[in-house]
Amino acid sequence: MNAGKTTQSFWEMDEMRIITGAMAILGGATALMVVVPYMLLKNTAPPAGLKPYTTSQAAGRQVYIANGCVYCHSQQPRDIKQAPDAARGWGRASVAADYAYDTPHLLGTMRTGPDLFNIGARQPSKDWHLGHLYQPRAYTPGSIMPPYQYLFTVRKGPALPGETVITLPPAIAKPGEVVIAKPEALALVDYLIGLDHTYTPLPALPSPAAVSTKAKP
Ligand code: HEC
Repeated sequence: MNAGKTTQSFWEMDEMRIITGAMAILGGATALMVVVPYMLLKNTAPPAGLKPYTTSQAAGRQVYIANGCVYCHSQQPRDIKQAPDAARGWGRASVAADYAYDTPHLLGTMRTGPDLFNIGARQPSKDWHLGHLYQPRAYTPGSIMPPYQYLFTVRKGPALPGETVITLPPAIAKPGEVVIAKPEALALVDYLIGLDHTYTPLPALPSPAAVSTKAKP
């Protein structure tokens, strides 16, 4: 009987080693992916040119989230070394401070459609946005963007006071019918037009001094 006397090789696994190893890997990953980025970015102040969202824009942001715009549109123009985004007219590469008011952020990963980080600067027309949401193909022939017609009410006859009638291109406007933007559509367009990060001076990248826990006087 020599049970209990077997010598264990260094690489042999037992529960304690597996648990300790797993915890060490998880701890390391959390430090690298959560703690270090938090330390780097926690002192990031919003740039002077960046305005907080108005109530209507914040509501529009929720409409943007609810309708899955983020699945086809990114909001993160890249550096010229990574992609020709500036040449596409999408603006300079974004920096952390540009997102100071964004919770949750809407960076997006897919670019089925153009990046929208500066759509307000590129396309400031409310009429264009409302019409494009109602029927993208009336503005961009062959567009694969879905029409968001449930954000509008179509009615025969005149609009009521206070309603916003949208101006459609003659090709799709039907005589005797008005297309009225619902509050969700108006808020969404407020949000889109507000997406303008073309301000200068450029927000500074976090400096190593800002990373240290105690701010220097
Ligand atoms: C299935 C993918 C898809 C979804 C979902 C989608 N889009 Fe698009 N979007 C596109 C494509 C493709 C284009 C380019 C063609 C065009 O202008 O219609 C585009 C264009 C745009 C443009 C014009 C961009 C420019 O640079 O001219 C805006 C603004 C826009 N989309 C907003 C939205 C909003 C807001 C939503 C959510 C309500 C949305 N999109 C959902 C695919 C999509």
